[in-house]
Amino acid sequence: QSLTTLRLFTIFSWTCGRFLFPTWIKTIPIGLSMARCSSIVRPFSEIPGLWKNGVANLYNFWKLDGFRNLHRIMLQNFNTFGPIYREKVGYYESVNIINPEDAAILFKAEGHYPKRLRVEAWTSYRDYRNRKYGVLLKDGEDWRLNRVILNKEVISPKTLENFVPLLDEVGQDFVARVHKKIKRSGQKQWTTDLSQELFKYALESVSSVLYGERLGLMLDYIDPEAQHFIECITLMFKTTSPMLYIPPALLRQIGAKVWRDHVEAWDGIFSQADRCIHNIYRKLRQEAGTSKKYPGVLASLLMLDKMSIEDIKASITELMAGGVDTTSVTLLWTLYELARHPNLQEELRAEVAAARAESQGDMLEMLKRIPLVKGALKETLRLHPVAVSLQRYIADDIIIQNYHIPAGTLVQLGLYAMGRDPKVFFRPEQYQPSRWLRTEKHYFRSLSFGFGPRQCLGRRIAEAEMQIFLIHMLENFRVEKQRHVEVQSTFELILVPEKPIILTLKPLHTSQ
Ligand code: HEM
Repeated sequence: QSLTTLRLFTIFSWTCGRFLFPTWIKTIPIGLSMARCSSIVRPFSEIPGLWKNGVANLYNFWKLDGFRNLHRIMLQNFNTFGPIYREKVGYYESVNIINPEDAAILFKAEGHYPKRLRVEAWTSYRDYRNRKYGVLLKDGEDWRLNRVILNKEVISPKTLENFVPLLDEVGQDFVARVHKKIKRSGQKQWTTDLSQELFKYALESVSSVLYGERLGLMLDYIDPEAQHFIECITLMFKTTSPMLYIPPALLRQIGAKVWRDHVEAWDGIFSQADRCIHNIYRKLRQEAGTSKKYPGVLASLLMLDKMSIEDIKASITELMAGGVDTTSVTLLWTLYELARHPNLQEELRAEVAAARAESQGDMLEMLKRIPLVKGALKETLRLHPVAVSLQRYIADDIIIQNYHIPAGTLVQLGLYAMGRDPKVFFRPEQYQPSRWLRTEKHYFRSLSFGFGPRQCLGRRIAEAEMQIFLIHMLENFRVEKQRHVEVQSTFELILVPEKPIILTLKPLHTSQ
């Protein structure tokens, strides 16, 4: 109990400190911190920031809605302290960096078994329900053994041949669904908040790749269990962020609503994943490998017989949970940006039309001919990254900005802050996909999916799914924005729009 009191005190100190620092500090621009002025290596204890026992105020943090503004607070901290700062956040301590060159030093020191910040709420749930950790939560040799097997089935370039036809089918069905909605509206257009539709598209896509089967989410009648799964994922992310600073064990002990909701969310996610997995397992035994069709990631892993069934189940569930909000939110932001930039939208449409003509409709070939569409997705993730930061516990001592950082320290690269830093990106506030076409200055700047052996396992699926979606949408609809409304993001473990984004979809071909 005394440990808990100490932790709460720490949270209190950290959060209050954030809002009580003198205003003059705020005016120091990034890059002009003391660190830059000296060439001698300075000790860890001299890194600027709020990591000492400051007087803290958790109440203030809550009052200022700090949980939802984490990305903006981080950006402000870089403006205050310079390109490196140290802080104590609740019960964890970290060093934060922003420069691409420093990111390169960080990832060189990530060691053989790269380790991220552990999301205690997620591991607490697994421990509470006695469920195995999947690749997302495992560490060390256990992680590596599973990850190496999964890499071959999920992220190696060869997997695209299997994934693309499945994803293309979902993309076509999405277009048909939108046409139907337009027809039903009787207005030759459809104005809506697309987020629910995009969740369905993302879940249908990832499930079709994982299970080699469709869930049927593009149909009029939707399985209530699949709909419940989507709601559970959103709830799971939403309830995680408050538990980043308050130990889940404490919340569990006092029966806090946030913990109960979190458990309910994961229960829903696991039971839907369990249902899908059992279904495929049963079918596989009946068919006994007679089908020539690609059977999906799950069946491939079962047939490979290199991971235990419990390990497969744990990682498949994590892939399913990680594969919905991440891509759907990125697609929503991309449509929002395209609606704000009609000329750019036309340029992308022209690129897609040329790619279709050159590749005679072969989707795998088309994906090689759409650099601007790929740039648009990178640009979306620069301005609206899914992850606010990338983190590593460094395996070796390193020197960043002339400060010594000892091995074992948690170092975070501020992705959101880096994406908006004028010293890293020219006119960062502008949405310019073409900046990614120039090959020179991208050194450690495109890190939205992480880096190295611990990077996003779903990257190949996510990229193909999003590119295919944009191809189909650009070929069929013009996207427009209703009013001149700026939408900001809010932190719910991943960054999501703070309010609904209302878009209008108009068919390009009137015969539809
Ligand atoms: C726009 C889409 C997505 C973005 C921006 C994204 C971003 C990330 C990032 C930044 C990480 C941490 C990487 C690191 O620490 O270096 C990560 C990890 C992970 N992502 Fe994604 N992700 C996306 C979509 C997906 C999808 C669709 C799936 C599943 C199909 C997925 C599954 C995972 C898994 C399992 C991990 C943990 C890998 C490990 O620890 O070995 N992600 N993702």
